Amino acid sequence: MSAPSHDAGSGRMRITLKIWRQEGPNRPGKVETHFLPDVSPHMSFLEMLDVLNERLIASGLDTVAFDHDCREGICGACSLVIDGRAHGPEALTTACQLHMRHYSDGDTIHVEPFRANAFPVLKDLMVDRSAFDRIISAGGFVSSPTGSAPDGNAILVPKPDADRAMDAAACIGCGACAAACPNASAMLFVAAKVAHLALLPQGQPERERRALAMVHAMDEEGFGSCTNHFECMAACPKGISVESIARMNRDFALSFLKEAPDLPTGSSVG
Ligand code: SF4
Ligand code: FES
Repeated sequence: MSAPSHDAGSGRMRITLKIWRQEGPNRPGKVETHFLPDVSPHMSFLEMLDVLNERLIASGLDTVAFDHDCREGICGACSLVIDGRAHGPEALTTACQLHMRHYSDGDTIHVEPFRANAFPVLKDLMVDRSAFDRIISAGGFVSSPTGSAPDGNAILVPKPDADRAMDAAACIGCGACAAACPNASAMLFVAAKVAHLALLPQGQPERERRALAMVHAMDEEGFGSCTNHFECMAACPKGISVESIARMNRDFALSFLKEAPDLPTGSSVG
């Protein structure tokens, strides 16, 4: 990506896309080149892909499959690797929130799906991230009394704990951390999900069991081990800190010391 520059007259840009195309899981893929002669700097990256798909439809060709939902940086669906970086070149920005004004007339952009064994490609730029859903489900329930809504001040939460829990809860489950990690480790995601409950009083009853079960599920899904490259934190659009991983490691170790006899031993955490 060069310093942004647009056509002085129209403000429009000519963009060449090198896009990964793959008909389905376990099918060979290839890079396809497409030229867009009229890209507005005001478009989002996904709107630019919409324009490409409209042109493909008009030509009777198969559209490029890519995942998206909210297009507001909330849902975590937009799993694109743009010029070798999960979610693209802008820090703390999801692919759907990246705008074409960051590009220049004449730029060539490479677009691929997230790469990790646990995220198999479904088609083109879409990957299956249901492994994350299974990890969340392994975390299980949170004990909560039934009956009428409790008073808001019945359980006091220290402000620093509430802030850290809220920071961890900002994780949108996008998977960029695993896609950016050379080991395809999902530790940052799992640590964020463990931390946001472990920091709150409501998360204490199942705290140890939750950490063990989610780490075990992560290992079962085939994610790699964390070897402290910290690429996850650099790629994370929500600024989740690797401090969460340290906190989860501590919970995991303490849980083993206490007990969890019905869960298997051995994991990528250590
Ligand atoms: S930790 Fe960050 S990169 Fe990983 S899933 Fe959550 S939001 Fe995405
Ligand atoms: S489409 Fe929802 S975060 Fe990008």
